[in-house]
Order: sequence, then C-alpha cells, then structure tokens
Amino acid sequence: MQPIIDLLQTIPRLNFGHYPTPIEELPRFRQLLGANAPRIFIKRDDYTGPGFGGNKVRKLEYILAKAKTDKADVAISCGGVKSNHARVTAAMCARLGLRCVLVLNQAAVMFDGLNPASLVADQMFGAEIIRVANREERIATMESETARLKAEGNNVAVVPLGGSVPLGALGFVRAVQETKAQLEALNLRVDYIFHSSSSGGTQAGIVSGLQLFGLNDVKDIGVSPDDSSESIGGEVSRIIRGVGEMLGVELNDQAIVLDDYTGEGYGIPSPTGEEALAMLARAEGIVLDPVYTAKAIAALIDWVRQGKLNKDDNVLFWHTGGQLALFYSPDAGIEGQREREKK
Ligand SMILES: Cc1ncc(COP(=O)(O)O)c(C=O)c1O
Repeated sequence: MQPIIDLLQTIPRLNFGHYPTPIEELPRFRQLLGANAPRIFIKRDDYTGPGFGGNKVRKLEYILAKAKTDKADVAISCGGVKSNHARVTAAMCARLGLRCVLVLNQAAVMFDGLNPASLVADQMFGAEIIRVANREERIATMESETARLKAEGNNVAVVPLGGSVPLGALGFVRAVQETKAQLEALNLRVDYIFHSSSSGGTQAGIVSGLQLFGLNDVKDIGVSPDDSSESIGGEVSRIIRGVGEMLGVELNDQAIVLDDYTGEGYGIPSPTGEEALAMLARAEGIVLDPVYTAKAIAALIDWVRQGKLNKDDNVLFWHTGGQLALFYSPDAGIEGQREREKK
C-alpha cells in the first residue's frame, strides 16, 4: 500500500477541495425504512467546494493540474446545459486563470424563459459557452472547436466528458484512502457503498481504491441515471484498467452497475427518486439532486425493502452533489410535490 501512496503523491494535483468531506450517520432515515434496515451513513462529497462541489472536483484536481503542467492556455469541455462537470470545470478554470470553453447540449427537460442554475453559474465563472442541440452535435463541435482553437495558436487542454479518464479517477482512489482513515477513526466497518455512476470515473476510482487500500470486502454498487449496466460497466472496467496501468498494478476490473432505477431516462425525475429526495430532506435535512443521487438512493431504499440489505449491514451512501439541478423548476420541487399530493 505504501508504494501506491508514494506514487500517488508524485502525480500533480490541485488542492482545491475541502477534505476530508464529512461522513454522517442517517438514523432518522434508517427509522423510516423499518426495523430491519441497515445502519446508513453518508459521505458528503456535495461539500467538496469549488463550483458548488460534488464529485467532479476530485477528478478535475488531477486533470486540470496536468493542463497547468502542460502549460495549456485554454481548457475545453462538454456536457448537458445543466452539467455539474461543466460548471465545476468553469469554476476551477476561473481559479486557475485558465480560459474555459464549454460545449453544452440541450437537456431532456427545458422550460422556456428559465435558465438552468448550472448554466447561470458557468456564465458567472466566465466560461465561453457554445450551445448545441444534442449529444451527437456535441461530439462534432468539441472536435471542430478544439481544432479551431489549436489553429489559432492555443495550447488546448481537452477535458473529457465527466472527467472520466484514469487520471481523473485517481481523485476517487485518494477519496477511498481518505474514507478508510475516517472509518478507522469511527471504528466502523462498511459492507456496501452505493453511489450514482454515469461516465464511470467515480466508480472506477472507488473500485480501484477499495482494492488498493485493502477494503476488498466492501461491495460497491453503482446506480445508473441513464445508460445500461453493460455500457456503464464497460466504461468503468476500461477506466479501472487504465488506473492499474498508471499505478503499475493488476486490478480486478469488474464493477456492479444497476440500471433499473433510471425511470424514463436521463434528467427525467423518477417517482422512486422523488420519494427518496423527500425522505432525505424531511428526515435528515439533506438535499439530494433529482438526476443522479436521488435515483441512486432509491436503489438503496429498494434493496432494504426487498431484504437485500438488513440490520446486520452497514451501508455508506456516497453523495456526489448536483443539487443545483433543483433550482430549475416552475413548480419548486418538494413543495410542488406536496401541492400535488393534496389534490
Ligand atoms: C451529481 C453527480 N453524481 C454522479 C455523477 C456520476 O459520476 P461519474 O460520471 O463519475 O460516473 C455525476 C456525473 O455524471 C454527477 O454530476
């Protein structure tokens, strides 16, 4: 383990996040789930800091450190118009004094006359925004914009979608190291980790970290907000292999990704996700996001109800942020839901 820690120290990283992010227990949420519910803890990566925090900070600390080492004068990245990744990229580039270009596609749910909060923040952080209609156009525009910036003589750092490359995943290898120390201090054993998994970097880092730091008994469960288990799982495996290559170790590249909590699709709130969001907010005063974390904790709730998790288990839910997505609704989220319930 020590050689891995030493090697990790040698890879340039920006120290922009606030670590360790807290681990808190959720006793009132547990109570809502009944007598057989496991103990449930939450890792507050919604508190990582820059650009309203979330999981992207840890990945971008490595990716943008490389951009800086490479003396880039512009970073380009992409995502949906509500993208957490794009917003945090813009914030961290602002802090670095690095020009930032974002290619953003329309989201599944859009309201005329309202700007998603993340887009407002992107602009506030000074990012140059190119809006496109869909994901296909996004890929083509990323390529043409990168070529154009290079032709203008810029040294361009291309920040991949979601920061999900092996270098970015190292942020979550470190996060496992951080979590292990916290669990040891709490004298706590964790049996399961649940979290949202989409572009794969978070899960690849966690699964790699669990192996590298001797937590092989912990079962990691990724929950998809969009694509199939097969597609996300394949991406996670690819990134894990890349992490292994970077660190010179052989890693098991298998990951569990659930795709039965996606509902109608990416960015469309699901009924079980909305239930989860309301439960956490009312029982613990913790705000989830409707796109990623609510659907992930809906899976945890379902596993408790099915008896797949029980009172002998300890479960860590990894909050990956994203709550700005709530600030874009003509009927104001949970309050709106209560209004609907009354009818
Ligand atoms: C809030 C939030 N949670 C989870 C994820 C999934 O993380 P990853 O893309 O690393 O799989 C993302 C990004 O896609 C996100 O923005």
